[in-house]
Amino acid sequence: MKVLLLGSKGMLGQAIHDHFSEKGIEVITAARHDADYCFDFTDDEELKKCLFSVKPEIVINTAAIVDLGFCEEDAGTAYRVNARLPGILAELCREFNSYFIHISTDHYYISGGKTKHNEQERVFLVNEYARTKYIGEVLSLMYDNTLVLRTNIVGFRGTGKATFVEWAVKELEKGSRLNLFTDFYTSSIHTVDFARILLDLIRQHPVGILNLASSDVSSKKDFIISLSKALYNKEPDYVETSVKEISGPKRASSLGLDTGKAGSIVGYSMPGLDETIHSIVDEYHKRRNGNEL
Ligand SMILES: NC(=O)c1ccc[n+]([C@@H]2O[C@H](COP(=O)([O-])OP(=O)(O)OC[C@H]3O[C@@H](n4cnc5c(N)ncnc54)[C@H](OP(=O)(O)O)[C@@H]3O)[C@@H](O)[C@H]2O)c1
Repeated sequence: MKVLLLGSKGMLGQAIHDHFSEKGIEVITAARHDADYCFDFTDDEELKKCLFSVKPEIVINTAAIVDLGFCEEDAGTAYRVNARLPGILAELCREFNSYFIHISTDHYYISGGKTKHNEQERVFLVNEYARTKYIGEVLSLMYDNTLVLRTNIVGFRGTGKATFVEWAVKELEKGSRLNLFTDFYTSSIHTVDFARILLDLIRQHPVGILNLASSDVSSKKDFIISLSKALYNKEPDYVETSVKEISGPKRASSLGLDTGKAGSIVGYSMPGLDETIHSIVDEYHKRRNGNEL
């Protein structure tokens, strides 16, 4: 199995690289820096040269602009990365007969609290991030050997702006008083679990849209309280707050995903909240011991 991994320095890209390499899979990396192929993915010529040179059996695209504020301010760049890039990749994969796996989002659902949304559920495009990611799905699926994975991922990146989990563990460590959202729901899966399940999915070669996430939907408040209990055996100091209080772009907030379809393909249930928290805590200790935090 020869895999070309785009976005290998990102939070999810790193986890996929580490797991697939550990399993003996040949992973060729592409990123703006520190990769086998270093270039900006909006450069079509470089992209084509990379695919022509690698001739991958599988292309995994984890590259995206995930900053909602940036997507609002520069919708053109967001379109080029989140929408046009997967469209170009799908056409290149058709040329090289590669299996295309494109990572999408859960940022599509605006009501229903803890509801689990399945792959057929109606989507709502409330901001430029959602709009550009959705167009990315549509363009990816113009090629019939494409798998689009909708997800909500949490984990460590080790570089750049702190991820949600990196922020949370740092604040919990300091004993800070946290503002915790009671009405922002996700089915967050740890990137390490995502990478493991992705490899099992690839062996079954599904195509179309699939939710790959935790089997539990939790509020950000419940998620952080569980993390605090697992790390420090106590509840954090917190005040309850609402996602409606956040300034900036409008957000979708009922992001739960129904993962029944993915579970039936791989033959086991997706990790629940407890398993996700334990997986994050394991990774936290590994990184701490390796001085990577
Ligand atoms: N994080 C979440 O909460 C979340 C939730 C749901 C879905 N997702 C989806 O999951 C996927 C992975 O997200 P992530 O959290 O791993 O994001 P991430 O850590 O920000 O990684 C994305 C990578 O894309 C790269 N990239 C962006 N524009 C590029 C360009 N023009 N050329 C080359 N590389 C470029 C970035 O490179 P630089 O470092 O050089 O900028 C970054 O390393 C994305 O499709 C995202 O939409 C994420």
